[in-house]
Amino acid sequence: MKVLIINGPNLNLLGLREPTIYGTKNYAALVAFCENACREAGFGCEVFQSNHEGVIVDKIQAAYGVFDGIVINPAAYTHTSVAILDALKAVAIPAVEVHLSDVDAREPFRHVSYAGLACFTRFTGLGFEGYRQAVFALKERLNAG
Ligand code: DQA
Repeated sequence: MKVLIINGPNLNLLGLREPTIYGTKNYAALVAFCENACREAGFGCEVFQSNHEGVIVDKIQAAYGVFDGIVINPAAYTHTSVAILDALKAVAIPAVEVHLSDVDAREPFRHVSYAGLACFTRFTGLGFEGYRQAVFALKERLNAG
C-alpha cells in the first residue's frame, strides 16, 4: 500500500512561519515524521509539497492508479480551491484532511473547507500528530475494504 502526503503553500516555511500557531519544528522534521508514521503503518509513502494550486491538482491526478490513499493539508487552498476538491473527487482515492492548527477556532474564513468535502475524515489542531492519525485512519479504511 502506498500513501501520498500532500502539503500546500507555505508549509515549506514551518519553523519560521508563525511559530506560535504552527510550532518551531521545520518542514524537514514534518517529512521525517510522516515517513516514520507510514513506516509504522506498513505503508510506502511519498511526501510532496507545493506552493502552486495547479501543481497540486496535477499531483492528485497523477496519483490515480499509483497511490492507495492520500493525506492532504491543502493549507490556504483548503478554503478557496474547488479545483483541488474536484481533483480529489475525480481520482476517488480515499483521502484524509489534516491541519496543524485548529482551523475551526481561528478566523471564520478558515472554517470553510472545500477539499474536506472529498475526504472521509479530518484531523485538526494536533500538530504533526494529526498526520500520524491520518495515516492510521487510512490504514483502517483500506483494511476494511
Ligand atoms: C493550515 C491552516 C490553514 O488555514 C492555513 O492557511 C495554512 C495551514 C494548518 O495546517 O493549520 O497554511 O492548513
